Formats: sequence, structure tokens, C-alpha cells
Amino acid sequence: MATIDKTQQDAEKLTAALAAVKYVKDGDVVGLGTGSTTTFAIKELGKRVKEGLKITAVASSIRTEELAKSLGIEILDLGSLSTIDISIDGADEFTETLDLIKGGGGALFREKIIASLSKNAIIITDASKKVKKLGAFTVPVEVIPLAYQYVFDQVTALGGKGQLRSIENKPFITDNGNLIIDADFGLIDDPAKLAFDLNQINGLLAHGLFINLTSKVIMSDGTDIIVFE
Ligand code: 5RP
Repeated sequence: MATIDKTQQDAEKLTAALAAVKYVKDGDVVGLGTGSTTTFAIKELGKRVKEGLKITAVASSIRTEELAKSLGIEILDLGSLSTIDISIDGADEFTETLDLIKGGGGALFREKIIASLSKNAIIITDASKKVKKLGAFTVPVEVIPLAYQYVFDQVTALGGKGQLRSIENKPFITDNGNLIIDADFGLIDDPAKLAFDLNQINGLLAHGLFINLTSKVIMSDGTDIIVFE
């Protein structure tokens, strides 16, 4: 992972966000991700809406919904849609083959639904997120509380060292009322196989491996905008 300072990283996030927003057209239903990179894109979309851009949007988290509404972006109910024209979201890691780890912000379940519904799922990142192999960042796993120990044990059986995500010594609770296990699988040789295996675990609502869910990754490295597709 490249080492860069925060100001540089924020400049890269902003550059990637501005490039992604250019793909949004009048009439689009836009999926909005969660996190600091996506926040740059939402703020730009808010500006464009004030200038007359006509869009509606769906949000991947309560905080994204609140931000979007505060900027005048109309929010639809995610559960009512069969398709989304374009989505813009961040990632914790990505490879050139467009495999991702997401969920650092805990919004992975709704983010995955949005990515699944999107005709054009755009991921925006700074250069630090690009990796040869996924896995330096742990794989978040959202689990329904009553299945916690079962899912934890199944993740362990797949080779993951799990840790309950907590904040200020209290379990982190997702917008869906669930828990998150951050699972360290080491560097992952076959993310599609691991994603498949995790999908078989009952009580596991979603995991942060996003395979075949991305149309393009727009990354800024501070000098250039690089598009992987
Ligand atoms: C939230 C996510 C975010 O997109 C991911 O964690 C990247 O966040 P940031 O843009 O703040 O680095 O998956 O669940």
C-alpha cells in the first residue's frame, strides 16, 4: 500500500469524485455509497442539483441519506427499485481486475444491494487503495446477532481470524441492527472462491468482498486520473 499524507489523499479522493460525478446525467437514479471519498462526490452532486441537475438517489447508509437530503438531493426507498442507473461508492482495497474489499464504514450490506442493482457501478479511490492481492484490509462480515457465534466459528473454519468490530468498547451496530466481524484471511489468493464460501454461511447477511459488482474504478494518484474497467 502506498504511503501518502492525508491532505494528498483527500486531494486524490476529491479528484476521483469529481471525475465520477461527470458520468451522472439528468433523470438518473443515483446510488450513493458511504465514506469519506463518496462524501466528496455527494457534495459535488448537491452543488450540481442546485445548478439544475435533475436526479433522484438511493442511500447506502443513514449518514449518507442525511447528507444527501441536507444538500437537496431527493432520496428514494432502496427497497422499491429494480434498477439504478449509476452508483458512486468508495472501497477499502481494489485490484486491477475490479475485485474489492468494502465495508470499512460498516455500510457493506446496503452498498452491495446498490452495486447489484446498478447498471454502472463506479468506485472512486485514492492511490492507497490499489493492491495486487486483496487481504491486507480485513474482510468485514455483517452478522445477524443471534447467529454471531455460529458465523464467527464458520469464518474461523474458512481460515479467517475474526474480531468483533467495536467502537469505544461497545459493539459496532450497523444501520440494519447487526454486528460486524472483521476477518483477517491474510492475502487472498482466490477472492471469488472465498466470497462463494462466505455466501454459504447461514446468518451471514453480507461480506465485504465485492466480486463482479464493479463497472469501473476511478483512481487519482495526485497527478493523473486512472480508470480501471
Ligand atoms: C463503507 C465503505 C467505504 O466505501 C470504504 O470504507 C472506503 O471509505 P473511505 O472513502 O472513507 O476511505 O465501504 O462501508
